Amino acid sequence: MYTANELIEKVSKGVKNIQYNAEPQNLYAPIQYILSIGGKRIRPLLMLMGYNLYKDDVDTILNNALALETYHNFTLLHDDLMDQSDMRRGNLTVHKKWNENTAILSGDTMLIMAYQLFNQGVKNNEAWAAFIDATLGVCEGQQYDIDFETCNDVSEEEYMEMIRLKTSLLLGYALKIGAILGGADAEDQANLYAFGEKMGLAFQLQDDWLDVYGDPKKFQKKLGGDIVDNKKTFMLIKAYQLADETQKAELDKWMSGKDFQETKKIAAVTHIYNIVGISQLVQQKIEKLFSQALTCLEKVKVDSQKKTELRHFADKLLGRQY
Ligand code: IPE
Ligand code: IPE
Ligand code: MG
Ligand code: MG
Ligand code: MG
Repeated sequence: MYTANELIEKVSKGVKNIQYNAEPQNLYAPIQYILSIGGKRIRPLLMLMGYNLYKDDVDTILNNALALETYHNFTLLHDDLMDQSDMRRGNLTVHKKWNENTAILSGDTMLIMAYQLFNQGVKNNEAWAAFIDATLGVCEGQQYDIDFETCNDVSEEEYMEMIRLKTSLLLGYALKIGAILGGADAEDQANLYAFGEKMGLAFQLQDDWLDVYGDPKKFQKKLGGDIVDNKKTFMLIKAYQLADETQKAELDKWMSGKDFQETKKIAAVTHIYNIVGISQLVQQKIEKLFSQALTCLEKVKVDSQKKTELRHFADKLLGRQY
């Protein structure tokens, strides 16, 4: 069995070796850029780890794993455009470094490259169906995310379903595809999927928390973007539930305001989060989801020792700062 670090190394090399057409440069240079400026590579890693529970020849499915990373990076190009984000992985976003049309078309190209890569991997109908479900679901989740920006009565359940689609699916399916290709039975596939799904929910809650409370030196994205965009995060939904009438009116004012200074809006909303104790609430929810995730992992019928790397992975993810 491989350690997570060894598998990350394989993914990094694989990403570097992805073949591009030479021309047009303005189409492919942004793709090389986004894939080279960093990224935790957790999705391909999870696919390889899922596979490695059952089989050792992980290189066989490297293209399937790279397909998932390429798809994820496509979503980032379009997400940054939709969210009007200037910074990604500590660098300028593609639409800022080039322009909006570049982010659209290079993003589209990455989506196609993702299917091309998956097709160059191990051929398996079930895995293909899973890949399609995952990649379609993310777009559905992203649409809810955007719809919710202008909807003021989003419930906690609706938020959880939105993040299940936009984020959890890829983590769950990364593990499930690895398991399918590794020859796992349906029960193990389902438990690994559930492990990834719960972790994915926690992962997005962390992302939302970091967007407000992250260390600007470590987070690698601009803080406060979700507040500026009126994103209906768990934090905002809970803040509304816990706020008194004055605080609610204050939140309403910032949500409906058009001409505001971003820094002032971020400071004002964060101040309300602090008063009502949002940070602790989110942290509790994150910990609960990680613990539920580990329960699902324990049900997977392989030697407990083989699952050590995945347990460590979850532990490390729990403490992430970017
Ligand atoms: C960012 O994903 C998008 C979310 C689902 C929150 P990651 O945090 O995995 O981004 P990279 O790939 O490591 O940059
Ligand atoms: C995006 O969620 C999830 C996807 C990219 C599908 P966010 O919009 O919160 O991700 P970041 O914070 O920009 O990475
Ligand atoms: Mg975003
Ligand atoms: Mg977004
Ligand atoms: Mg975010």
